[in-house]
Amino acid sequence: MVDMKIFGICGSPRVNTTDYVIRNALDKLKSHGLETVLFSCAGKTIKPCMHCDYCLKNKKCIIEDDMLDVYENLQNADGIILATPVQSGGISSNLSTIMDRTRALEAIDYNLLRGKIGMSIAVGGDRTGGQDFAHLKNITYFMIHGIIPVSGGPFGSNLGASFWSNDSLEDVKKDEYGMESLNRALVEFSKFLKKYI
Ligand SMILES: Cc1cc2nc3c(=O)[nH]c(=O)nc-3n(C[C@H](O)[C@H](O)[C@H](O)COP(=O)(O)O)c2cc1C
Repeated sequence: MVDMKIFGICGSPRVNTTDYVIRNALDKLKSHGLETVLFSCAGKTIKPCMHCDYCLKNKKCIIEDDMLDVYENLQNADGIILATPVQSGGISSNLSTIMDRTRALEAIDYNLLRGKIGMSIAVGGDRTGGQDFAHLKNITYFMIHGIIPVSGGPFGSNLGASFWSNDSLEDVKKDEYGMESLNRALVEFSKFLKKYI
């Protein structure tokens, strides 16, 4: 596991419950010797894709904003963790914008992200607020880019780590079942990194 790099994206527009969960995940991986980088959408500017197709011709995005940081870290990573608050029954618009803007990497080389390992975290205000839909969108992103998605396994972590925040930082910290799903997903994520990277 030496020299493995994990890039975590926190898709929340603020620093709160999703930030708490992804930091917890990255800290655990760091304690096992992995190098971790966190990109938080909070306070960042990532403009929506305009479908101008500049990237297809020029092999880079025409928009120069905080996505430049994401492009670099996505390419350098061995493992990628997408953490999103559940919004409107799915992922945040911040994370969705990052997904669209990844098209510019595909324009350079379709294989840039191929074979990396991907893991999903979803934090909903409601217990069943759409965490699974958020995971499925993250997993779809992984598949589109050739990233291998991990499951935390049956019994609570089928599609990734799912949390119920009850809209509060205090309550997400008390979500033991969510933390168990995170730990399961991290075990599988580490096994996949060892086996395939
Ligand atoms: C615009 C918006 C839409 C939301 N939609 C949902 C939803 O569909 N399902 C849900 O469980 N929680 C929903 N929530 C609540 C958030 O998922 C919840 O508060 C989460 O913990 C926020 O994460 P954060 O603290 O990292 O921002 C929504 C919150 C916002 C701001």
